[in-house]
Amino acid sequence: MPAQPAYKRILLKLSGEALMGNLDYGISPSVMSRLASEVQEVVRLGVQTAVVVGGGNIFRGEGLARAGMDRVTGDQMGMLATVINALAMQDALERIGQEARVQSAIRINEVCEDFIRRKAIRHLEKGRVVIFAAGTGNPFFTTDSAASLRAIEINAELLLKATKVDGIYSADPVKNRRAKKYAELSYDDVLDRRLGVMDQTAIVLCRDHKIPLRVFNMNTPGDLLRLIRGARDVGTLVR
Ligand code: GTP
Repeated sequence: MPAQPAYKRILLKLSGEALMGNLDYGISPSVMSRLASEVQEVVRLGVQTAVVVGGGNIFRGEGLARAGMDRVTGDQMGMLATVINALAMQDALERIGQEARVQSAIRINEVCEDFIRRKAIRHLEKGRVVIFAAGTGNPFFTTDSAASLRAIEINAELLLKATKVDGIYSADPVKNRRAKKYAELSYDDVLDRRLGVMDQTAIVLCRDHKIPLRVFNMNTPGDLLRLIRGARDVGTLVR
């Protein structure tokens, strides 16, 4: 495998659930440290790395909306949950000597920077990890859509979606033993077959702006680094 990375700038989407490890709620310190180390290794290869984190480990607006809570309020609470995760990730990175900056889509200046695209790009050029928090800043948009949007805005060459399974399958691999893993799909395959790996808005944004998307399992140590080095057998590529 080549020692040189295959990409100059990437965006990694981590779900809130990815931060929970075996906990039922919140952030697992050991999982957070492992993720921070893997991200640092990627940066050390010379790859400019941005991160979008979800908030589902702390709060999920959708469920409460179904129970009667105002959806906009629920989504705003979800956005604040992503800020908590982003601060935890920034802390975990800085503790191992990796500079990082949190930029939020909603103004919360005492806590972190605002999202300013050009400043985010400068941070990346200086080798800092930029963690984008608060989704797109709007209710009704998922953090997956935020990941696609930010990937486009910073001209990332690849959007990485970290999940709990090692790619996109024809059916749920947990429930169906005959589910087949795809090595590669087109954006329209994912949309037409409703493969449900990301919401449709997120996929359409990637398609219309030609950002390749790779879905992979963040729980397999080393896979992130392998795919950054160009391994083709990690996860599923959508392009
Ligand atoms: P350079 O332009 O390379 O110097 O980037 P920098 O981020 O180190 O410098 P800057 O002076 O912009 O920021 C210094 C510190 O303050 C960094 O830790 C920033 O994350 C932080 N910071 C910058 N703007 C804000 C803000 O609006 N709110 C908060 N809470 N922190 C900020």
